[in-house]
Amino acid sequence: MMITADSIQDMVERHGRTRDALLPILQEIVSEKNYLSDEDMVEVARALDISAAAVFGTATFYSFLDSRPKGKYVIRVCKTISCSMKGKNSVLSTIEETLKIKIGETTADRKFSLLETNCIGWCHKAPAILINDEPYTDLTPKKVTEVLREYIKNR
Ligand code: FES
Repeated sequence: MMITADSIQDMVERHGRTRDALLPILQEIVSEKNYLSDEDMVEVARALDISAAAVFGTATFYSFLDSRPKGKYVIRVCKTISCSMKGKNSVLSTIEETLKIKIGETTADRKFSLLETNCIGWCHKAPAILINDEPYTDLTPKKVTEVLREYIKNR
């Protein structure tokens, strides 16, 4: 899907023309087309009147930066400290076993991609993951298995 300069302008209108709008705008682009291209970042930088390097830095930090199109559902597992301390490894290995992919891979049917990310702001309910822009929190191997089953079955 193409994200046009107009649709980026529209996001800026909705999220505001401030630095704080950067992350929500990047999240929205990624949720619409599952990846973020260089052109998108340049366009966002222009629309927010900040440097492309600032956009690039934020995109890299949140692991949104990958020019390859991904699966329909991109799972981002938080690897930052609160989640690590509260069982992120067992959640991650459950996802890997259920979908038969490792971090950085996409399932053969292109339904799921698996990535790690830095803190997504749900530390108080760690461990947390995002599936596209939907957060799932307080996860256990059992709970994440149920979440994945729903996606496999219904979507
Ligand atoms: S440390 Fe995982 S959400 Fe903040």
